[in-house]
Amino acid sequence: SSHAITVIGSINMDLVTESDQFPNKGETILGQSFSMIPGGKGANQAVAASKLGADVNLIGCVGTDAFSQTLSDHFKSQGINTNYIEEISDQPTGTAAITIAENDNHIIAVPGANYSVTPELVEKYEDVIAASETIILQFEIPIASVEKAIEIAHRHEVRVILNPAPIQPISRSVMEKVDYITPNEHELTLLLDDEEKKSFYEQNLEKFIVTHGSKGVLYYKEGEEHLVPAFSVDVVDTTGAGDSFNGALAVALTNGETLEESLRFGNAVGALSVSKLGAQTGMPILSEVRRFLEDQA
Ligand code: RIB
Ligand code: NA
Repeated sequence: SSHAITVIGSINMDLVTESDQFPNKGETILGQSFSMIPGGKGANQAVAASKLGADVNLIGCVGTDAFSQTLSDHFKSQGINTNYIEEISDQPTGTAAITIAENDNHIIAVPGANYSVTPELVEKYEDVIAASETIILQFEIPIASVEKAIEIAHRHEVRVILNPAPIQPISRSVMEKVDYITPNEHELTLLLDDEEKKSFYEQNLEKFIVTHGSKGVLYYKEGEEHLVPAFSVDVVDTTGAGDSFNGALAVALTNGETLEESLRFGNAVGALSVSKLGAQTGMPILSEVRRFLEDQA
């Protein structure tokens, strides 16, 4: 449908270990728990949007190993259209080795099949992109594929949200075709790595939505900077909080909410998602977000 949100991005199995502390180099310690939880920035954003009631397509690749079927079944159970998830026979499904300790996390993501989301594959789904109202992209697939998706969406006047994580260099001409770029404060500095991009930023502040963790989100309107404060909640695991925020932002904008309302909504969804272990665990459904926002008022 024309209100669909299409995510072109990564699909991982997150291998999550909880421990009291991080081990030192060369050290072995005993941990507390191990869980396998669906993840990947693309899939997380797709699940966040689907749980909030959006009509969601996920374009991505998995391997043909033990994780791929589990993941596809899981995304289907979350109401996502999985028809555009392809199985790659010579690559493993993407994984992320995640350690949660000391109120923080360490993550090593191995792309595997996610790097088989080539520009050619993206091009094959031009009609799906063109029929969407919004697309969401991240940087866990090849940059050339992200650029191809942006080009197609731009040509068909489809809204583009680019979450530049984990950070990779991207050209100014590509940034121009994006409606919203959602770096965190650290990613923003790395994104503006030359004078040309810095001046692009100065001239296009309204494209930038900069997340500042527990402080909230900065956006610009008529040249003025505004902060939409974060909600304070008890944190179990911040993994995927940014993904929850981006998925929710896409849903609210697609539903025609103002940018400020959309950011407040995104903050609420991000806050609720950190109450449980795992990127997708804890992502709320729409009624939970509404109740949460009423309780805050
Ligand atoms: O943003 C969180 C995600 O990053 C995790 O689910 C993990 O898979 C990594 O890709
Ligand atoms: Na969570």
